[in-house]
This record gives sequence, C-alpha cells and structure tokens, in this order.
Amino acid sequence: RRIAVLASGRGSNLQALLDAITARTLDADIVGVFSDRLHAPALERVPVELRWSRDAKAYSPRAEFDAELADALDAVRPDWVVCAGYLRLLDERFVARFRGRLLNIHPSLLPAYRGLKTHARALADGAAEHGASVHFVSPELDAGAVVAQARVPILAGDTPDALAERVLAVEHPLLVQVVRLAVAGRIAEQGDSVTFDGHPL
Ligand code: GRF
Repeated sequence: RRIAVLASGRGSNLQALLDAITARTLDADIVGVFSDRLHAPALERVPVELRWSRDAKAYSPRAEFDAELADALDAVRPDWVVCAGYLRLLDERFVARFRGRLLNIHPSLLPAYRGLKTHARALADGAAEHGASVHFVSPELDAGAVVAQARVPILAGDTPDALAERVLAVEHPLLVQVVRLAVAGRIAEQGDSVTFDGHPL
C-alpha cells in the first residue's frame, strides 16, 4: 500500500511511520513527503527523490498551491494521504479529490480544541485530560470523522511544552495503529462516521 505524507515541521510522526515500516510492523511504503514549507525538517527524513516542497506563501490565490500539491500527490498514486503535522488548511477541492483516503493527526481529543495551540488551551481551561485524535479529513478544520484517540492525564504544574511532549509520545503509536488499519482496508469513511470491518464504529 502506498502512503503519501504531508508535513510542515519536524516530522516525528512521519518518523514513527518510517520506523514501523522498517520494523515490519507496518506493511506499506512511503511514496512521497510533501510540504508547504520549502525546507521543512520532515523532508530530511526521506531520500531526496521522495521530497516535494513549495513555499505555499508565495502562491496567490491560495487555491493554486493546493491544486499543484494535488497534482504532485496524484503523480505518486497514493492509496492513503496522511497529514502528520501539516499546518495548512486544505481547501475544499483538495479534500474532495482525496476524500476517504485522507487522514490527519490532531493533538487534542476532538471535537475539543480544533485549530492551533491546543495544549495551552486545554491547560487554561483546567481540563483533566488531553490527547490526540486521528480523523478523516473533511473540508472544515479538524472536523472529520474520528477513527481513534489516545488520552493522557494533565498533571499539576504542567506547562504547554511538557503536555505537548506527553501527547506526542502517544501520537506516534496512535498514528501507526490507524495507518495499519487503513492499509489493511479495515477502516472507511462513511458520511460523518467511520466503519471498522464494515460496521459502524
Ligand atoms: C503534532 O503534535 C501533530 O499532532 C501536530 O503538530 C505536531 C507535529 O509533530 N499537528 P511532528 O512534525 O510530527 O513531529
């Protein structure tokens, strides 16, 4: 199964997928890493031939970037497209084109805390727990059907960075697990929900 990864930053979630493939616990190939930032560190984690990046800020109108990204993705014929720390909102046409095989990992227990700075917001609210979600991507930000979540406690004296680190530690196995189900054909997006082995989740 062919997986394309979209990443804007460090790429530790991408690395978790690469490590699982190397360890043969994930039966898939990463066929490309795509970024909206020219020199995203995530790109360095794969061979040069697999890297695609453009400076999204240089595109106007915005949609032109997404159209070019979509063409570049299609060129590698992905079965699944995984957003792993991809920080740019995908436009509606892009989502329509890859819908059903487009996954995202988001650092919150969705539907809580869509968008950015989730850790600081959970702390400011005095939440008792926080975590990460992997969901199918729909056109609204961080709003698609959730496949799976991982929880962590919020501890006394937590800072956003400490909490982010605790969440990241559960993101990696969570993402690998969901991608494993995806490539095995066990999960599917059906309207606003997810089916697992053909049954509603
Ligand atoms: C992760 O917390 C991811 O959920 C969020 O941004 C962070 C990216 O980390 N969207 P990395 O680039 O995978 O290391």
